[in-house]
Amino acid sequence: MKTRITDMFGIEHPIIQGGMHYVGFAEMAAAVSNAGGLGIITGLTQKTPADLANEIAKCRDMTDKPFGVNLTFLPVVNAPDYPGMVKAIIEGGVKVVETAGNNPVQVLPALHDAGIKVIHKCTSVRHSLKAQAIGCDAVSVDGFECGGHPGEDDIPNFILLPRAADELDIPFVASGGMADGRSLVAALALGAEGMNMGTRFIATKEAPVHEKVKQALVAASELDTRLVMRPLRNTERVLTNVAVERLLEKERALGANITFADIAEEVAGVYPRIMLEGDMEAGAWSCGMVAGLIHDIPTCKDLIDRIMAEANAIINKRLPGFANA
Ligand SMILES: Cc1cc2nc3c(=O)[nH]c(=O)nc-3n(C[C@H](O)[C@H](O)[C@H](O)COP(=O)(O)O)c2cc1C
Repeated sequence: MKTRITDMFGIEHPIIQGGMHYVGFAEMAAAVSNAGGLGIITGLTQKTPADLANEIAKCRDMTDKPFGVNLTFLPVVNAPDYPGMVKAIIEGGVKVVETAGNNPVQVLPALHDAGIKVIHKCTSVRHSLKAQAIGCDAVSVDGFECGGHPGEDDIPNFILLPRAADELDIPFVASGGMADGRSLVAALALGAEGMNMGTRFIATKEAPVHEKVKQALVAASELDTRLVMRPLRNTERVLTNVAVERLLEKERALGANITFADIAEEVAGVYPRIMLEGDMEAGAWSCGMVAGLIHDIPTCKDLIDRIMAEANAIINKRLPGFANA
């Protein structure tokens, strides 16, 4: 399949694996890129620019296809060494960066000077337009369904994607709730030129996370996510568990007086324990409503091949049946 996104990133299929904390290691990114999509290493999971440089080098050893690095600008207590990370990306020869969170304007000149394409992930049309205005090459439009940070507008993709299509000139991919060939065709119909998946890629053979995380996704339904940290205006969609229900109880009890310190036990530094050790009650971890559409743990290649076969069958067989009736 050929779209402006496959052309821009030099990939075979218009499918991107979004950056994911403690999931987006070299193994994940390389598996997606080897399957013809665009795999993405999560920059901030690496503790230092030198660690990121090593992860990039490792990924390059595992694939000769294009892959990207995610740089997330979220409210954090001690700001990471972003200039050092950018240097590692450029020196590592990476050609795509996915930015997310705050406006990426401060890193754009250096990335563009190095010939790197930047796709910014946004949860609203106004932020997408801002990304276009500052010179981003593409956007990833992330609907309310998404795992991770859906923003505070709560607009699902059935509205958000056509709104983005009406306003944007640069190409965009649909993000949030994407799982299969139906998602891809729907995304294309709504104006996107590809799709970005997070949660779905965690339930794959190559995802370098504990088996219990994958099994939790297979077991979960679309009813099992919760929104946490809404009172702090840092909303995150997570899979429910004991820690998440305790966190929500604190939010109810403390109301507007709640501070990050009150919920640090449930959210701060919990990712390694969950993703690497499989301690499923350790805290809150991002997960999309799309968990309801995840029933197996295929290889990335089998998943992407299946998505493309299903999408092509819908486009070539199902839809013409309606159009020509
Ligand atoms: C476990 C997990 C961790 C994530 N971590 C990040 C992150 O560090 N930076 C980021 O930009 N997005 C992060 N995301 C969001 C994904 O890149 C992607 O936008 C989102 O998962 C899309 O929604 P979906 O899960 O419905 O596919 C994370 C998502 C998950 C599920």
